[in-house]
Amino acid sequence: MLLPSRRVAAVAPFLAMDVMTAAAARERAGGSVVHMEVGQPSAPAPRAVIAAAQGALAHGRVPYTEALGLPALRERIARDYRDRYGVDVAPERVVVTTGSSAGFILAFMSLFDAGARVGVPQPGYPAYRSILAALDLVATPMVLRAEDRFAPTAELLRAVHAQARLSGVLVMSPANPSGTVIAPDALRALCAAARDLSLPFISDEIYHGLGYDGLPSATALQFDADAIVINSFSKYHCMTGWRVGWMVVPDSLVRPIERLAQNLYISAPYLSQVGALAAFEAGEELDAVRDGYARNRAILLDALPGLGLGRTHPADGAFYLYADVSDLTDDAAEFCRRMLAEAGVAATPGLDFDPAEGAHHVRFSFAGSEDDCREAVRRLRGWLG
Ligand SMILES: Cc1ncc(COP(=O)(O)O)c(C=O)c1O
Repeated sequence: MLLPSRRVAAVAPFLAMDVMTAAAARERAGGSVVHMEVGQPSAPAPRAVIAAAQGALAHGRVPYTEALGLPALRERIARDYRDRYGVDVAPERVVVTTGSSAGFILAFMSLFDAGARVGVPQPGYPAYRSILAALDLVATPMVLRAEDRFAPTAELLRAVHAQARLSGVLVMSPANPSGTVIAPDALRALCAAARDLSLPFISDEIYHGLGYDGLPSATALQFDADAIVINSFSKYHCMTGWRVGWMVVPDSLVRPIERLAQNLYISAPYLSQVGALAAFEAGEELDAVRDGYARNRAILLDALPGLGLGRTHPADGAFYLYADVSDLTDDAAEFCRRMLAEAGVAATPGLDFDPAEGAHHVRFSFAGSEDDCREAVRRLRGWLG
């Protein structure tokens, strides 16, 4: 029998996928499911994106691109930093990637040697831990607290570094699973602390563009020109399966990352890059999708307290609510299994995001339709009410 490497053995399974499998089985058996377990928009890619990709496909030739991406796309992304945040980014510092997922691999590999410890938020996106483990790096949790809105702080970073001697730090805003936006001043302080401690600062900004009546999403580049910013067309632009994202990196990392990208995957998919370029023309369509999430969020926030789920951080951005279910259960995984089996609502147990405290939380995604959200509330009322 072939045994997997020690590194791969350290990669945890994704419980959300188990929920998806159980939900699919229920649907095959004729049951209905409201899907709130999946972190992806139900809306299709914008019309302009589809038209651009169809146009390119009609030419027949779908080539590799340069490893760092199509020059026109890199330029357009760079321009967006000026338009959106007032930050000057040279197009040469933009790297087009196969989703932000590839961005993490490229960032971690280019910055850290085996055994290095990287501070990551907990609760947080589980792939950070898994990718670090797969690369023989160590994810060091920065434990976030509900009373701090699940936002990391400069003090927390200093405290974790004092204990663990980090080699780098990663933060995300808006966050998965809490939806927390790090306030601009707090992000500035985090960047300053990282610089003080000589730690590379990696900022996952994949949910930018998805904010609700609250804090503006600042980019780390406003506060640290050397921050490594990772972003994607998956979420705001509704292009999950196109697998295209980007990074902004300091000059010193461009060539190392180019060498890695050339060897690891040659280039991000050409058609997806052509589509991504057109996504910048689709602001109106995409803002309308975002306004739909805002309505979904309002429906859920209105209903949850009456369901015993009042201790839910209201999500400044992204499309998740991270509900504290400790009044109802101390086993969120079992709670999610029963919620699916008995109410036909699929959601993700918190253990995916937080191995320590996740048994008390459930993540609901509100990236689906308004009808889905209303139906979920109706079913949960019947089940929990
Ligand atoms: C916080 C966060 N970062 C990164 C990703 C990966 O996205 P992609 O590889 O599609 O860009 C996700 C996906 O859910 C996420 O929630």
